[in-house]
Amino acid sequence: MKNIKIEINLDVFESVSKLPVSIQKLMDKAHKARDRAYAPYSSFKVGAALQLNSGEIITGNNQENAAYPSGLCAERVAIFYAGSQYPEATIHSMAISAKSLHSKITKAVPPCGACRQVLAEYEVKQNSLIEIYFMGESGKVVKSNSVKDILPLIFDSTFL
Ligand code: THU
Repeated sequence: MKNIKIEINLDVFESVSKLPVSIQKLMDKAHKARDRAYAPYSSFKVGAALQLNSGEIITGNNQENAAYPSGLCAERVAIFYAGSQYPEATIHSMAISAKSLHSKITKAVPPCGACRQVLAEYEVKQNSLIEIYFMGESGKVVKSNSVKDILPLIFDSTFL
């Protein structure tokens, strides 16, 4: 038996003001998108903003549904929109902001497993890494240099 240890790398910024200015702007777009989320069932609003290499910024937010599983997370709304409108674009970075209408979230909220899997697909498709910055309503911002750091052992098309 052999034991394998996997090391992941995350950077933690004390607050938004410690981020590079371009990422502060991206996070601001994520906050604004978050506040437009349609989340009447969970009251948990999430916004995502993608920086494309072209300079364009794409945003998305969670869209819920009375048939709960029919809803979609903010991250996938944004990524699928980018994929459908700009199929040749490269996504450089993603900022994610989450807010609950019940209590103030000060912990950084990472993307869910399904969104990580979708991010992995796009990293493979574009053959370059996507920086991911995530946070709650306020507080620390966590940065992952690639989805590989938050989704070790990714499943991709090489297994098919
Ligand atoms: N949600 C997101 O938009 N992104 C995530 O990564 C986690 C969860 C949404 C889905 C649902 O509308 C609400 O947050 C509560 O789970």
